[in-house]
Amino acid sequence: MIIKCLGHACFTASDGKHTLIFDPFLTDNPEAVVSADEVVADAVLPSHGHSDHLGDAIPIAKRLGVPIVAPYELAMYCNRFGAEVVPLHIGGGTDMRFGRVKLTFATHGSAVVTDDLIEYTGPPCGFLVTMSGQTLYYSGDTGLFGDMKLIGETTPIDVAILPIGDNFTMGIDDAVIAVEFLKPKAVVPTHYSAFEPIQKDPNEFAEKVASKGVKCVILPPGEAAEF
Ligand code: NI
Ligand code: MN
Repeated sequence: MIIKCLGHACFTASDGKHTLIFDPFLTDNPEAVVSADEVVADAVLPSHGHSDHLGDAIPIAKRLGVPIVAPYELAMYCNRFGAEVVPLHIGGGTDMRFGRVKLTFATHGSAVVTDDLIEYTGPPCGFLVTMSGQTLYYSGDTGLFGDMKLIGETTPIDVAILPIGDNFTMGIDDAVIAVEFLKPKAVVPTHYSAFEPIQKDPNEFAEKVASKGVKCVILPPGEAAEF
């Protein structure tokens, strides 16, 4: 599986045949390495309604004619604007052309916030995606939660993409505990550089997880790695 960071929490995962895009916030993303008009994917997976995650999901899905896979309420929000959707909910999964997607719990908020309205879009989620025999855990924005241990016990994870930026999500030390719970073969940190309140050093995280025997791959915007 090839994982690429497109800036902030936007990542693609590809097995060579299919590509998924997670949290496609590209327009107004100070780190974006591509525009929303250029990306190509077979499905769009927004973890929650916040603008730095839902981002360009709707226009990308509509342009490409591919589905948005999201928690029910967020999926219905996207469907209202004409996007094809695959609504799921926490703990449920479905088999798709490219593999299996299961939604996981995340402890965070989920709303589309505009100048005059906060429209709640159900609970946020994480994604467990299995493609070509490998499993990616994209946690989405979340604090540390004990059931990560359950995920780690029940699901062999090849790569986990976890936030480390603190303020809105886990910080470095909690993310290290998350790694201990999840036991992934490798971890990619995210959500630590695009905005002022979340500036953190991914090398500090990398050193701390290395001491636990887990490989950390830092992916600056535009860089990819094969797992
Ligand atoms: Ni958020
Ligand atoms: Mn965020």
